[in-house]
Amino acid sequence: VRTGRCVVAVDGPSGSGKSTVSRRLAAGLDARYLDTGAMYRAVTWAVLRSGVDPADAEAVAKVAGEIDLRIGTDPQGYGVTVDGVAVDADIRGPEVTGAVSAVAAVPAVRALLVARQREMITHAGRIVVEGRDIGSVVAPEAELKVYLTASEVARARRRSAEDAADEAATAADLARRDRLDSTRTADPLQQSADAVVLDTTELGIDEVVARLRELLTERGVA
Ligand code: DC
Repeated sequence: VRTGRCVVAVDGPSGSGKSTVSRRLAAGLDARYLDTGAMYRAVTWAVLRSGVDPADAEAVAKVAGEIDLRIGTDPQGYGVTVDGVAVDADIRGPEVTGAVSAVAAVPAVRALLVARQREMITHAGRIVVEGRDIGSVVAPEAELKVYLTASEVARARRRSAEDAADEAATAADLARRDRLDSTRTADPLQQSADAVVLDTTELGIDEVVARLRELLTERGVA
């Protein structure tokens, strides 16, 4: 079935393999793919560009409300633009990564982005959405909710390989962001009670994707 509605929510901390798994799953399902982390990163980019202090919630919310943020949903490659400027590379840089947790903690920013995300999900029909609050807040009605985990060591190793950065520094930064993302008051990272939990420390990406395909088949949705 390639026409029915199928929303897959993929949540978990950074370095858990979310992005790779989500993109491959979406491509295999002939579905769209939404990277909600990229949206929080794009707002953060705009905040830094405007010289606003990421800790100033009111000013941050104002920037978020004024920009024209666009993101594609092609799992093979999506573009992110802010006011027409392509920010795909910049939003992965250390400045944005260092400030994004503060921006993502602002309730008004979350309300704005969650509304956009819901619109995109409704429009797409078949979509894999990755983030921190997808199963709990953005798409509680998702046909499948997945929570990916991995040991801290494995997560730091993956991220430092991706960013060509020092593993110890990456581990410290991951721990700091995990703490901020899990303890904020507005929609913290949390495991939905009805999510399927998969630990990717030992499992390969292909095995995880295959397991998710099995689950979707069992549920009769894809
Ligand atoms: O997945 P990522 O590392 O690109 O996410 C960037 C930041 O955005 C991360 O620190 C947590 C935040 N985020 C969030 O609060 N809610 C989401 N749905 C996705 C990301």
